[in-house]
Amino acid sequence: MKAGSRITSTAFARKICSAEDAAAMISHGDNVGMSGFTGAGYPKAVPAALADRIGASAAAGDPMRIGVWTGASTAPELDGALAAVDGIELRLPYQSDPVSRARINDGRMEYIDVHLSHVAQMVWRGSLGHLDVAVVEVAGITPDGALIPSSSVGNNKTWLDLADRVILEVNSWQSASLEGMHDIYYGTALPPHRVPIPIVAPGDRIGVPYLHCPAEKVIAVVQTDTPDRNTGFKAPDATSQRIAGHILDFLTAEVAIGHLPPDLLPLQSGVGNVPNAVLAGLQAGPFENLTAYTEVIQDGMLDLIDSGKLAVVSATAFSLSSDAVERFNTNACDYRGKIVLRPQEISNHPEVVRRLGVIAMNGMIEADIYGNVNSTHVMGSQIMNGIGGSGDFARNGYVSIFITPSVAKGGAISAIVPMVSHVDHTEHDVDVIVTEQGLADLRGLSPKQRAQKIIDNCAHPDFRPQLQDYLDRAMSSSYGRHTPHLMDQALSWHAGYVGAGTMRGAGATAG
Ligand code: COA
Repeated sequence: MKAGSRITSTAFARKICSAEDAAAMISHGDNVGMSGFTGAGYPKAVPAALADRIGASAAAGDPMRIGVWTGASTAPELDGALAAVDGIELRLPYQSDPVSRARINDGRMEYIDVHLSHVAQMVWRGSLGHLDVAVVEVAGITPDGALIPSSSVGNNKTWLDLADRVILEVNSWQSASLEGMHDIYYGTALPPHRVPIPIVAPGDRIGVPYLHCPAEKVIAVVQTDTPDRNTGFKAPDATSQRIAGHILDFLTAEVAIGHLPPDLLPLQSGVGNVPNAVLAGLQAGPFENLTAYTEVIQDGMLDLIDSGKLAVVSATAFSLSSDAVERFNTNACDYRGKIVLRPQEISNHPEVVRRLGVIAMNGMIEADIYGNVNSTHVMGSQIMNGIGGSGDFARNGYVSIFITPSVAKGGAISAIVPMVSHVDHTEHDVDVIVTEQGLADLRGLSPKQRAQKIIDNCAHPDFRPQLQDYLDRAMSSSYGRHTPHLMDQALSWHAGYVGAGTMRGAGATAG
């Protein structure tokens, strides 16, 4: 299909211009809401043209910086390009770009890590300031001016509703068969005007397949024909396969004792290599007729649909490797009845997640012996990616599972520590912790019982004696015996890594 044929509305076709001309309509200090969610559906041309302009401006002694709000992470052409020219003053919410990460961690870029379901309401109530411009990729524009959403929905509805000026990128690379796959809900409101979100099953459709934006607000339409760029996941290795095996055993046992139905409850699987490996594990597992109410559709989920194991999936974006994208684009029509793409405030909505009883499975950086989880920070102060939707699902899910290999950085770091160096999910929101060593079901356990179970089942054998030593000493000499901690040593493992490059031997018994 030719690029031009994707824009069948004359009112919008009149606004067609180059990416450079569109980028020139963004000003220093603007807050810009961009589409994009995990490398899918992000604008491909305008951010790059804007980065060139910002670079030239800085070279001429006239620095330009903007606020960049997105759905979640994007791709090097957006986050990477703008960060490389120091063009981003403030970024939110989730990001995973290495250049941005470096800028944030060296203090040159401000970053606000927000629960993904919260972003829209924060913007609607004005907590983040004014939204000046929206730059949104769509798959096409219908004759009556309705926008066919692209491979992610994210916060696009909010950006289009609230921005003063709108720039559209119409990407003819996106499958034309995306039309009809989306469910854009226009019934959200700020309190006290809210009504229940009427989703009672993952495949329910409660909105319309199109985004709406008055043509008068659109200042530019840019045509592209460029692929999404998601980073593929690593093939499941022995560690992640063992983690997946523990989860499958756990789910099987939960079904056997009647805690879960035979087709489970709707699944949510977070981003990362290990969660993707769990999906691969489900492929070989005994469960049929599965459903998913999740945030992103990764390769593993597409495989489950293809094999007939997964009947329907609700998400806000694809997050597919290039091979999987090709498979999807070739057969997009066949997937239409099985995939619903929603705004992220709905795909991650706490009310719906709680109602459906989602089984939440998310990756983490580290957990402590009491079950608090750090998903975002390395050694307490360096951001990795962000909390993303993990909190939306973990807090409200029916069973909340966190997974990680038991060690990182070649065994220098234990993923199970006395006290996490940053807390994203408190012990109250964490039901199950899994490493390749085993699974700790923490439900119904007191803090001391949790600690013993996590050490016994999840810690790497190399670190188990060190953790046991910490717990034993805390039990006998801590300030209190409910959640025993040694205040002068709780973070000594992290301090040990920062100082000596290893957690081994850190905080060891003195004499
Ligand atoms: N200390 C220091 N670094 C650690 C670590 C620890 N305890 N645990 C992991 N890492 C590092 C790894 O070494 C790796 O670094 P590298 O890229 O330099 O090799 C990186 O973190 C990723 O680890 P990996 O084991 O490959 O895990 P992953 O790809 O499954 O990602 C998270 C794990 C936590 C980073 C990822 O799941 C995440 O960003 N989660 C938060 C958002 C989220 O859960 N979203 C889902 C909502 S739907």
